Amino acid sequence: MPPFALCTRIGLSVLGAALPVIASAQFALPALPYAPEALEPHIDKVTMEIHHGRHHKAYVDNLNTQAKTTPELANLSLEQLQKQISRYPVAVRNNGGGHYNHDLFWTLMAPAGQGGVPSAALTKAVDDTFGSLAEMKKRFDQAALGRFGSGWAWLIVTPEGKLAITSTPNQDNPLMDLPEIQRGTPILGLDVWEHAYYLKYQNKRSEYATQWWNVVNWKEVSRRYEATLR
Ligand SMILES: [Fe+2]
Repeated sequence: MPPFALCTRIGLSVLGAALPVIASAQFALPALPYAPEALEPHIDKVTMEIHHGRHHKAYVDNLNTQAKTTPELANLSLEQLQKQISRYPVAVRNNGGGHYNHDLFWTLMAPAGQGGVPSAALTKAVDDTFGSLAEMKKRFDQAALGRFGSGWAWLIVTPEGKLAITSTPNQDNPLMDLPEIQRGTPILGLDVWEHAYYLKYQNKRSEYATQWWNVVNWKEVSRRYEATLR
């Protein structure tokens, strides 16, 4: 079973120990791998509670509703679903993408000071591609700020094994088999939907994006990068 399918069924295990899931249906809402206030002051507790407990939960609940009328969804891991999303109605695309994106997003953050630094392998790839980590962050922020309306900014590993920065609208992601999407394996993603930042930052998406770097879990980003090398 792919790792993400396992995560979906038994809970996230990014910190070494499996965490309990909050729902018991086909697709399940994973528990946050930290307390909702753990990312303060950069991401506030109420935003995290609403983002996880209401928005992410709604994607899971809606996807489970859709699975009742499309039973084959039950046989797919979250990653498998993204890679053949073009076969399904837009509601599955939106909710399946929303579930995958948020399942990933929680693991990509850690309390400030606990996320470590990029590994040697990731640092070399970043330097080779962008010249420096600062330049990569700059281009990533440009993708985040340039996304009109709701969506995501991504650092991906392309099918050729190269790093690239891209952006998707709504709950689309780089795994999806859609012609308008630059495809690759996401190793870092930033949610730029207003629900991710509006309570604390209001319309100041740039300030949210800047502060978010303080809670990036570089250990997990590095692990995901190195997994693409194998
Ligand atoms: Fe979100």
